[in-house]
Amino acid sequence: MKKITTFTFLFVSFFAMAQQETIDQKVNALLKKMTIEEKIGQLNQYTGDNSATGPITINPNKQAEIKAGLIGSMLNIIGTKYTRQYQELAMQSRLKIPLLFGQDVIHGYKTTFPIPLAEAASWDLKTIELAARVAATEASASGIHWTFAPMVDIGRDPRWGRVMEGAGEDTYLGSKIAYARVKGFQGNKLGDLNSVMACVKHFAAYGAAVGGRDYNSVDMSERMLLETYLPPFKAALDAGAATFMNSFNDLNGIPATGNAHLQRDILKGKWNFQGFVVSDWGSIGEMVAHGYSKDLKEAAYAAITAGSDMDMESNAYRYNLAELVKEGRVSIDLIDDAVKRILRKKYELGLFDDPYRYSDEKRAEKELNNPENRKAALEAAEKSIVLLKNENQTLPLSKNLKTIAFIGPMVKEYKANMGFWSVELPEVNYDKWVVSQWDGLQNKVGKNTKLLYAKGCEVDGDNKDGFAEAVAAAKQADVVILSIGERRDMSGEAKSRSDLHLPGVQEDLVKAIQATGKPVIVLVNAGRPLIFNWTADNVPAILYTWWLGTEAGNAIANVLFGDYNPSGKLPMTFPREVGQIPIYYNHYSTGRPAKDEDSKNYVSAYIDLKNSPKFPFGYGLSYTKFDYSNLKLSSASMKNNETIKVSFQLSNVGKAAGEEVVQLYLKDKFGSVVRPVLELRDFQKIKLNAGESKTIEFTIDKEKLSFYNNKLEWTAEPGDFEVMIGASSADIKLKSDFKFN
Ligand code: BGC
Repeated sequence: MKKITTFTFLFVSFFAMAQQETIDQKVNALLKKMTIEEKIGQLNQYTGDNSATGPITINPNKQAEIKAGLIGSMLNIIGTKYTRQYQELAMQSRLKIPLLFGQDVIHGYKTTFPIPLAEAASWDLKTIELAARVAATEASASGIHWTFAPMVDIGRDPRWGRVMEGAGEDTYLGSKIAYARVKGFQGNKLGDLNSVMACVKHFAAYGAAVGGRDYNSVDMSERMLLETYLPPFKAALDAGAATFMNSFNDLNGIPATGNAHLQRDILKGKWNFQGFVVSDWGSIGEMVAHGYSKDLKEAAYAAITAGSDMDMESNAYRYNLAELVKEGRVSIDLIDDAVKRILRKKYELGLFDDPYRYSDEKRAEKELNNPENRKAALEAAEKSIVLLKNENQTLPLSKNLKTIAFIGPMVKEYKANMGFWSVELPEVNYDKWVVSQWDGLQNKVGKNTKLLYAKGCEVDGDNKDGFAEAVAAAKQADVVILSIGERRDMSGEAKSRSDLHLPGVQEDLVKAIQATGKPVIVLVNAGRPLIFNWTADNVPAILYTWWLGTEAGNAIANVLFGDYNPSGKLPMTFPREVGQIPIYYNHYSTGRPAKDEDSKNYVSAYIDLKNSPKFPFGYGLSYTKFDYSNLKLSSASMKNNETIKVSFQLSNVGKAAGEEVVQLYLKDKFGSVVRPVLELRDFQKIKLNAGESKTIEFTIDKEKLSFYNNKLEWTAEPGDFEVMIGASSADIKLKSDFKFN
């Protein structure tokens, strides 16, 4: 058996190498035929007119330029009909080099999945991979070759609107999710009809914008960059990511787009990345506004020399690279390298064999929004919901309730459930195929349950005229469900907020409803951690429902009635107040740590607020209870090549089947540099029936103990460690010391 496996492996590797060789030969042969204008054309990407995802640039010559072979890629061309039409233009060019179609397929194509931050709350890598797989299958059938995802930026600042697009604050969890998403998008291999190229973004450190303000500067130590911000990119690359996108921000004074340290030294150097790098929308041109480049020509120079291969929407390469080559400032080898990287992908995708192979009306009809995809979206949505509070077993609801009042500005919304960065398909009537929360509840309850509705108020604004009607509905009901939160255009790109409290008068509405004395369940819909202290302190039950996609209503109803037992855990820390931001669980140890929440005197604390968050990283409840016991370490010490097995017993001691995310944290007690108070280093999601117990095992190896030491070398240092098993970063159930020597 082993022999066969080795043989198969060798055969497959040989085949892959041979294939790569022929692709390289083809690329080189084609390159020889190309004029310099045609080469530069390949490095040039424009947006289509269907939708714009950045400041619009009008280019009336687009079609003529495609025919002249001066454009290598388009984004925002939606649907089989249009991708085919544009490809037909490229086929009229001299060398018939096919166009690449890119699109932000961030959390689904037509079947919309939960926003990425919500999906991260599932801590369920299979579910996350499947979501990307479904998105790739639908997008590829519609002619898309390339998704601008996953976004793997670490998000430690919820003021930054784009935290909704990533996997939250943690490097370990973020790396696992980055890997899963790339695998999902790219499937078995590029060239399969249902695979799209992934584009890992935004390289790098974009999420650490000063003040959480989008596009703002980033100033960070090399250690922080290497240890916290880069590993998810590396994980995505290890999963085979075909492309990278650089970012808008400057990093320590150098715009990422013109940053040779990031793109040449690290990505294409140390990491040996063989794919290509696309700029972000207009980010080459923006180096002029940054005050880094004198004009567009200098910006083109900075970007190409730093390693940006494709120019999205700046027109910088198109009009300046030829001259830079002529002047001898940019070598033709540099251009050839960028062109080859792009052409290789076009060959790998099979576009030279058949440029229309992905624009398939029949396949699109079969794949888009089919029942299997809807099922995957429903399961992902259920798993993304986080139960934040459940006093007096308010949830799950009984199916025999006589009257339920469903109140709030989100209840009858359709599109709102899709969240930011969902693909807007022009022909779709969203009311028909997104399951609203109202429809979801109606599908769930029987004939004997009466549903009452009142809007109460808008998401923002100060109008309380609807309160009286809402209170009247609440008074007639056995329970009240209140659906509040952010509008879908409040988190996302360019959606930074300085105030994270529930917008408008929504928390006043909660107070008015709570005053009726009825049991109240609050659903918070949002793209980021919001602040809702009064609600959290006073209302008995809260579900964080994010934006869950096309199956939102059904998923929420299943959780409300216990047909799915919530299992989500927060992938980001929820602050008490904006003043605590940036707040994250794995902060460094200080020299004056506060012993507890009340110690204030000359310790690292706020005099007007607790240090702890409102809800910690890794936190989430279930309708059942889990008990952790019997921690065992296979040894109290380990050497370089050794491992320690950590085991414990997890028991479901409640009455319902459920899933628990068990989290392994480590603390390096002292080192050549200051270390975090604790760090997530492993996790598992375990399903147990009521009354069931299971022995859970983790392995600690040297890699898990490693960090960047005082010489910025990745290594583990001899010393004392603590291993902690937690239900969250702040709820450590079991712990033990061990030594590494
Ligand atoms: C965003 C990218 C996105 C691109 C294309 C930019 O504004 O930052 O994440 O992929 O637009 O839509």
